[in-house]
Amino acid sequence: MTADRHTAAIVPAAGRGERLGPGAPKALRLLGGAPLLVHAVRALSASHAIDVIVVAAPAGDLDEVRVMLDQAELATEVLVVAGGESRQDSVARALLALPAEIDVVLVHDAARPLVPAELIARVVAAVRSGHEAVVPGLPVADTIKQVDEGNVVEATLNRAALRAIQTPQGFARQVLQSAHAALDPESSPATDDAGLVEALGRPVLVIAGHEEAFKVTRPIDLVLAEAILARRRSAGVLG
Ligand code: C5P
Repeated sequence: MTADRHTAAIVPAAGRGERLGPGAPKALRLLGGAPLLVHAVRALSASHAIDVIVVAAPAGDLDEVRVMLDQAELATEVLVVAGGESRQDSVARALLALPAEIDVVLVHDAARPLVPAELIARVVAAVRSGHEAVVPGLPVADTIKQVDEGNVVEATLNRAALRAIQTPQGFARQVLQSAHAALDPESSPATDDAGLVEALGRPVLVIAGHEEAFKVTRPIDLVLAEAILARRRSAGVLG
């Protein structure tokens, strides 16, 4: 272990991805011939902003994931741990594997394979400049309505004040660890890590996100991801 590793990225990759249809766990689905997880980890490594990456993989696929990441021959050290029942559990397990000297932690969904390296670097820079929790976000295009259990509209939210939040989300390590430690096990699992920090009453800064950091959730997202990858490859960008 060297003394100059300070920034880590946790990659929750243990979800089933049921909205994508039947098949392998989502992070292991192929995009342009490589698993989504390999694309995401490659992007983190290529940013040159991350010293160590901890992947929370499906518990039944640990060996397969270790082999695929070895074969990717990344410049950055990658550790693989077993993920949990929820995304939140998976991040908590990965936090336990962080080396002692890490002081800034990014959390990045494996399901966002095309995240640009410049976004990763901007998130790290914003945390290092003194913001303890930083998330990328984009304005929303659709009107968002809140509905009751019968699907009847209760409220129309002010679109101008809404942001669709992406990953990587960046944190001072202590803040992210405190947020996970303070978690009420009875509460419903958070859909992102910043939500846990907000529950502590700590500030979360939104910086400009990137359209290509979208999450692959439904089959149509894979079509879009394939098109972006093909465009990058024809422009000579590796991926
Ligand atoms: O389900 P959702 O799309 O919000 O998942 C976001 C990310 O969290 C995905 O990369 C998925 O693999 C991961 N996840 C996980 N462990 C779970 C559920 C989701 O690592 N139990």
